[in-house]
Amino acid sequence: MTIGIGLLGLGTVGAGVASILASPEGRHPLVAALRLQRVAVRDLNRSRPTSPPAELLTTDPEAVVDDPGVDIVVEVMGGLEPARTLILRAIAAGKPVVTANKAVIARHGEEIAAAAAAQGVYVLIEAAVGGGIPIIEPLKQSLGSNRIQRVSGIINGTTNYILSRMAAEGAAYADVLADAQRLGYAEADPAADVQGGDAADKIAILTRLAYGGTVPRGAIPTEGIDQLEARDVAYAARLGFVVKLLAVAQLMEAEGEHASSDHPLLDVRVHPTLVPSTHPLAGVNGVNNAILVEGDPVGQVMFYGPGAGAGPTASAVVADILNIAGIRQATGGSGGSLDPLLAAGSWRTCSLVEGSLTTHRNYVRLRTRDEAGVIGKIGTCFGEAGVSIQSIVQFAAQDQDGGDADAEIVVITHEVLEANFRRALARIEALPEVESVAACLRTL
Ligand code: NDP
Ligand code: HSE
Repeated sequence: MTIGIGLLGLGTVGAGVASILASPEGRHPLVAALRLQRVAVRDLNRSRPTSPPAELLTTDPEAVVDDPGVDIVVEVMGGLEPARTLILRAIAAGKPVVTANKAVIARHGEEIAAAAAAQGVYVLIEAAVGGGIPIIEPLKQSLGSNRIQRVSGIINGTTNYILSRMAAEGAAYADVLADAQRLGYAEADPAADVQGGDAADKIAILTRLAYGGTVPRGAIPTEGIDQLEARDVAYAARLGFVVKLLAVAQLMEAEGEHASSDHPLLDVRVHPTLVPSTHPLAGVNGVNNAILVEGDPVGQVMFYGPGAGAGPTASAVVADILNIAGIRQATGGSGGSLDPLLAAGSWRTCSLVEGSLTTHRNYVRLRTRDEAGVIGKIGTCFGEAGVSIQSIVQFAAQDQDGGDADAEIVVITHEVLEANFRRALARIEALPEVESVAACLRTL
């Protein structure tokens, strides 16, 4: 049985998928049953290193979805529209969809899942998180018996590539970002990578799979690496840390009027984080991603591998196509009824915890006057707010900084309540010896 593939997009990921389909030798035999039927692009005249036959290409993506020879629609065009409408159009036509588009799934996942369930078709998204790393299917299936306590990790390849090269080579931010774009790692608008939005899309998706319910995407506290100063990366290194952009989804202790096992309260966030250099995430460099899943009873499971780029992402896309192709083959083309694990619908309501109730370790850099008693006053502000300090170090302020400060004081706290930490910072900022709170980062 041959299965027709309609490809929406022939950029980094689409070209990677086309290349796998064009060379089935040595792969699973089902790959040979997949036939590229139609391909939508924006510009027919764009020069492409390799391309399917010209007669397969069209600038009309609806024609791809509607083509009667297309059995599975693969959306790798990116963006919210027309991607969302095309996915819904495919579902309405009873065609399963494979997509790598985390932006559309993080924002319209519930609408798409409801439409897919109503039509009895699969929408599979393995490539949307972690590039070539299998993480979606493990969360849906292999780890399904667990109560998940925490999902955390490095889930944006572009920013990890930038941070790794800045730390290893002292490379300039703009140059490394340009390299990440050239290598096909970055989003069409790289602001999504460097401002943390792409990681927030991905942790929203992982949260739904790990905890069985959607959290509002727009309410996830998100901080990227675009405001990160090289000086904090350097101070972090001197204190035994590396800086990584981490995404975290964590189950809170059942507290509050709504929290229960039917309605879990979650702490979900994305931010640059100081990671101890001995921690397994500290050694995840370049475009690699790593996701740590902590569950009961499994304990800790770590998923590691290339998080972006044509080959790894296409590997995940084609794996999803094969899942659907396998089911079609087993059911003689009908697809049968939906497997609830593979379809992965939501089964409870989740809420985000209020930020002030969360607890963290923190790194703070203060610009201050270099006088007797300053460290004592800062320590008192922290102490009176119930914030315990793990270490406090003074560095000389650099000449080019301007302002009156002649010292920089870096404080690392123990794990403390966010509300207490903010209260301490407000009091410290008001001290006449303190010019500014120059940086504030989380610490693992
Ligand atoms: P690209 O920008 O490289 O490719 C997009 C493709 O879609 C291009 O071929 C473009 O046509 C086509 N396209 C865009 N809009 C339209 C339209 N309106 N009509 C017809 N064709 C259109 O993106 P990527 O391949 O990098 O990413 C694709 C998706 O995969 C995104 O959702 C991205 O977030 C996701 N993803 C990307 C990864 C990566 O490493 N790059 C990793 C994981 C997920 P043309 O070629 O003519 O410009
Ligand atoms: N821009 C994304 C990243 C692509 O760098 O991780 C993979 O999702």
